[in-house]
Amino acid sequence: MRIDDFHREIKSQVLNLSDRLDLISFMLDIPYSEVTSLSSDTVISSSLLDVVLSKISKKIPVAYITGRREFYGYEFYVDSGVLIPRVETEILISEAIRLIKNQKLLDKALAELKVVDLFTGSGVVGITLLNEIEELKVKVVDISDEALKVVQKNVDKFDVGTRIDIVQLDLSVESNVESILIDNDIILANPPYVSEDYYIEMVESLKYEPKIALVTKDNGLFYYNMLIYFLTQCMDRKILITEIGFNQSDYLRELCYKYGLTHYFLKDYLGINRVLVCSKG
Ligand SMILES: C[S@@+](CC[C@H](N)C(=O)[O-])C[C@H]1O[C@@H](n2cnc3c(N)ncnc32)[C@H](O)[C@@H]1O
Repeated sequence: MRIDDFHREIKSQVLNLSDRLDLISFMLDIPYSEVTSLSSDTVISSSLLDVVLSKISKKIPVAYITGRREFYGYEFYVDSGVLIPRVETEILISEAIRLIKNQKLLDKALAELKVVDLFTGSGVVGITLLNEIEELKVKVVDISDEALKVVQKNVDKFDVGTRIDIVQLDLSVESNVESILIDNDIILANPPYVSEDYYIEMVESLKYEPKIALVTKDNGLFYYNMLIYFLTQCMDRKILITEIGFNQSDYLRELCYKYGLTHYFLKDYLGINRVLVCSKG
């Protein structure tokens, strides 16, 4: 099949142009950057073609077909055991890099800062930090066996094994969250924050991603309530940087006021508050 025919065939199912180009680069086994300079009559003769077309017709996400997703300029391995990294999470990582590079942060040198990436999934947040700041070490935490296997692949891919501590832990257990917060200075988190009701509404578009990565109780607020509560209980100053759902900032602002936390939000490209940064004092 010619690539212009392939484009036409999948256009109505794969709406995102970069996803279509990524599929072509995957099938021709060429770098993404070379796809746009291909002539339109280039033929995809790959034996993968039928398999790929069949997966697309079932609406399997492109990242699960190609086994990769670009995040903050780095190509991460992903499979159906992890959430596909979202562009909103790049706002969290940009702010984390900005704050951590600020030499006066918490009056600690970079090599001494204790940074943890909670709910790490594929490891994108923690590993991107390691890629961007070479003095840093990071602990990454997730409950899922499948996710931790993906993290290990990405650790090997980016050769950061000596600077990362991979921990399997259930973060719905209060004592686990408490001890993680006590032990760390910077807490990064992209927890499950979708309510059961919203998930039911959105299930068609989310059904291939692990439900455990998306949904939590208390109307999607369970992990924020716990993280913010234990942040207030710590003796030392800690900074929590967390992604939030599109409709959760009003509640979280009130919670921060209630506990007297210094806080601010960062907006996504649509102008919606999607990242909360808060700290005691
Ligand atoms: C929204 S995903 C975030 C993945 C990744 N950090 C990202 O930004 O792409 C949430 C992650 O939380 C993990 N998770 C869900 N419940 C958990 C729990 N009780 N304890 C620890 N991790 C949990 C899931 O396995 C999933 O990988």
